[in-house]
Amino acid sequence: MLRVAGARVESLCMPLTQTREIAAATRLQHVRYAIRDLACVADEVIRQGHTVLPLNVGDPLNFDFQTPPHIIEAVHKAMRDGKNGYAPSDGVPEALAAIRGEAARKEITTVRDVFVTSGVSETVDLCLSALVDTGEDVLTPSPDYPLYSAVLCKLGIRLNTYDLNEDDGWQPELADIERKLTPRTRGIVLINPNNPTGSLCTRKMLEQIADLARRHNLIVFSDEIYDKLILDCDCQGNETPHIAFASVAPDVPCVTFGGMSKNYLVPGWRIGWGIISGDAAAVKSYAEGVHRLLRARLCANHPEQFAIKAALEGPQNHLLEVRRKLRSRRDLTQKWCESTSRLSCVAPRGAFYAFPRIDIPESDELFVRELIRQKHVMVVHGSGFGQKPGTQHFRIVFLPDEQTLTKAYAGMAEFMRERYRA
Ligand SMILES: Cc1ncc(COP(=O)(O)O)c(C=O)c1O
Repeated sequence: MLRVAGARVESLCMPLTQTREIAAATRLQHVRYAIRDLACVADEVIRQGHTVLPLNVGDPLNFDFQTPPHIIEAVHKAMRDGKNGYAPSDGVPEALAAIRGEAARKEITTVRDVFVTSGVSETVDLCLSALVDTGEDVLTPSPDYPLYSAVLCKLGIRLNTYDLNEDDGWQPELADIERKLTPRTRGIVLINPNNPTGSLCTRKMLEQIADLARRHNLIVFSDEIYDKLILDCDCQGNETPHIAFASVAPDVPCVTFGGMSKNYLVPGWRIGWGIISGDAAAVKSYAEGVHRLLRARLCANHPEQFAIKAALEGPQNHLLEVRRKLRSRRDLTQKWCESTSRLSCVAPRGAFYAFPRIDIPESDELFVRELIRQKHVMVVHGSGFGQKPGTQHFRIVFLPDEQTLTKAYAGMAEFMRERYRA
């Protein structure tokens, strides 16, 4: 028994470790990222000694794509030149100038500001955080790239999704957008080319969305991270150009999101950017808010920013090869979907994703989990991206070479025959 000045001191006998639970914020309950959340199922299969084919993550470097060497050299040089301290919060001047040049090539004529971030992921986080207050909302597509809903959940913002219409090549459904608008809707997210559907917005659709944004005083967040991976060609074989939303609507407040991960094959470098355009007076206060957040998080990766000029202004030859491979793999994927019962698919026109619809008597999440367990092929269930009630889908990443895809699709077809007698 311990006594201090004649009194018993119980507290000295108590364990020193903290035993009460530290609860995570309830806001996080709805944060999901299905693309990586499936990893625990794959780990279980890997522990049994199998190799899992990852058709779930959009990382070209998992397959036969290589980073252009001149971009790597630009980063080496920056490191050797001592660019290893903190960078300016909005980005190094030569990267900002290169992004302005890129905006001009995209025919964005009303650029008010540009800034560099740690991947487009950080652009999304900063731009949504700088916009919304409690009780307000931002329209996001359904299906969507799940980071948007994750960030909004983190901010405690109620999700407000609009449908992409599968019967109309996954174009945004304007009537649904009109229905979902509330007096407290501040912005709308466009993902073009789209993840997970591979669709491309038509010029007419961009014009209609611009008109809607004008009427309801919305800012448009146009995620164009896949803008150099357009797979469509016209009948003469000419590549279809990408149309930037901000080029169609120079007056509408807009942030165009771009980055290095996909077009320049360096997802691990974490480099993205935002281009703020529109009427100068309309975007001034919002841009100041973005800069406040940019300063608070110090800066994006410093040496990697020196790859931006090299990438945007240097040789673009790798893109021809990337698009050639992707077209062939898209065609193979589409053919497989068309020839497999229970499947139908809107042909992807950009990026490297297909989002087939599947007609099965169980959830698409169970389909995906069992597919990993039984055939060791990993795709992502449609419910992980959002989809119309009563429909089921899965997302395929068609980055692997033709031989690997053929083997994966044979395994999937066998799985469906065994499970559904398809
Ligand atoms: C539509 C879309 N936006 C943003 C991102 C995030 O990209 P980053 O690697 O630049 O953070 C991705 C990544 O897959 C994406 O598909």
